[in-house]
Amino acid sequence: MPYPKAAMTVDGPRGEPGRPPRSTTRDLERYAGLFATRTQGLRSSAMRDLMAVTARPEIISLAGGLPDTSTFSPALLGSLMRTVAEEASARALQYGPTEGLEEVKACIVEVMAEEDMRVDPDDLLVTAGGQQVIDLVCRTLLDPGDVVIAEGPTYPGAVPSLLAFQADVRQIPTDDDGMRIDALEETLAGLDREGRRPKFIYTIPSFQNPGGMTMSLERRRRLVAIAREREVLILEDNPYGLLRYEGDPQPTLRSLDGGDYVIYLGTFSKILSPGLRLGWTTAPRPILDKLNVGKQGADLCSSTFGQHFVAAYFAAQDWRAYLGTLVALYRRRRDAMLAALDEHLPPEATWTRPRGGLFIWARLPDYLDTTDLLARALREQVAFVPGRAAYLDGRGGSELRLNFSGVTEEDIHEGVRRIGRIVGEQVAMYSTLTGLEPVRPVSRETGDSAGGAGRVVPFHVKRRAG
Ligand SMILES: Cc1ncc(COP(=O)(O)O)c(C=O)c1O
Repeated sequence: MPYPKAAMTVDGPRGEPGRPPRSTTRDLERYAGLFATRTQGLRSSAMRDLMAVTARPEIISLAGGLPDTSTFSPALLGSLMRTVAEEASARALQYGPTEGLEEVKACIVEVMAEEDMRVDPDDLLVTAGGQQVIDLVCRTLLDPGDVVIAEGPTYPGAVPSLLAFQADVRQIPTDDDGMRIDALEETLAGLDREGRRPKFIYTIPSFQNPGGMTMSLERRRRLVAIAREREVLILEDNPYGLLRYEGDPQPTLRSLDGGDYVIYLGTFSKILSPGLRLGWTTAPRPILDKLNVGKQGADLCSSTFGQHFVAAYFAAQDWRAYLGTLVALYRRRRDAMLAALDEHLPPEATWTRPRGGLFIWARLPDYLDTTDLLARALREQVAFVPGRAAYLDGRGGSELRLNFSGVTEEDIHEGVRRIGRIVGEQVAMYSTLTGLEPVRPVSRETGDSAGGAGRVVPFHVKRRAG
C-alpha cells in the first residue's frame, strides 16, 4: 500500500478539514520570549519552504535540487535491503560509532579516490548528509559575529546554518571561473584594516549550487595559497564534482592543499540517494575531533541502517556505472533546459552554461523581481528558486535558480516556456510603461552590462533571432 502523502503536503488555510491550524500571532507572542537570542535572525531556507509547495503534483518544479531517484531500480533496492537483513540485521538495527562504520569509510575512500584524493579512513567522520557538516563546522568554529566568507550567490541551504550561528557573512562576487579571488583579496585586506580575520571561507568550487560555475585551476591554486599564507580554513563543499558532463576534472582544493587548511565535505546524496542522509567530512585532526564531539551531541551517530545499505550497495554493484547513468541523463536534461531557455526567454535574460551539477542560474533585467515573479509562476504551476535565497544581504532580486536533474525533458521544456512567457510579459509591460527599450541585465557588483568585461557571471546572452 502506498504511504500516505500527508508529510509532503503544505499546511492549508486555517480551519481546512484534516489539517492542523497554523500558528496565530497570539501563539507566536506567547512563545517569543522563550527563544534563544541566536534564533532572532533565523529564517527558514527558502528552498525548504518551496519544497513543500512544489511537492504538489500539478506543479512543474524547477526549484528543487533533487536527483532523479526513479533511476534506481526498485528491485535492486529490495535485494540490498534483503542482503542487509540476512547478513547484518542486528548490527544494522543497532547504534554505531560516531565516526561511522569501517565498511562505509572504505566506500568513501573509493569515492574520494575517483577525484584523486587520498584519505586515511581514520580521518573520516560519517555524517547525516553534507548538510550536517555545514552545521557542525558552524557550531564548532563560530562565535556570534565571526566573519565567514562565502560566494555570492551561495548554497541557499547553508544560509540557515550561517544565520543560526550569527555569522557575519561577506559574499564574494563570482564569475564563470568561480569566486573572484581579486575581490576576495580586497575583502581580506578590508578585514585586516578592521583587525578581523574570517573563521573560514565557504566554497562550492565545482558545478556550484546555485550558480552552476566551476572554479578555475588558477583560482583554486591561489585560494589554497591564500588560506596557507593567512592560516585561514576553507570549507570545501563538493557534492557535484563527479557529476561532470564535459570538460576536464579540476583538482579539489583538498588535494591541492593536502588537507592542512581544508575541511572537505562529501555526500552520497547526489551519486546514490539523498534519502539515505549520509555524507562525510575529513579535516585537520584537531578540527575533526571537535566535529566528532559536536556530532555526539547532535545525533550520536549517523543511521546505521543506511550505512549498512551503502556498504551492501558498494559490495554488490558497480557504483561508477550508476553514476554514468546519472551523468548521461542529467547531461541530456541540461541540454534540454539550455535549448528551452534559448527558445523561450527574451533576449534581456542571461544564464550560465554549467559543465556539471544540477543547476542553471539566470539573471533578468534589474527592474524584475524574481520573488514577485515566483508568485505569478506558481499560479502558472511552475516553480524556481528566487535569487535572494542565495544571498544574506538582500541581493539577487532579479536572479533565479533553475534545476534540471529532477524533471523530465518534457516538463523542462514546458516549465521554461511558462517562465519565459511570464518574463516576456513583464519585460514588455516595462517597455510600454517607461517607453524605454528593454536592456540587458546589469551586474550588481560592477554596474557593467552582464555581457561586458567586468560582469559577475558571464552569461550566455541570447541573440535576437533574425
Ligand atoms: C552545495 C550543497 N551542499 C550541501 C548539500 C546538502 O546535501 P546532503 O545533506 O543531502 O548531503 C547540498 C544539497 O543540495 C548542496 O547543494
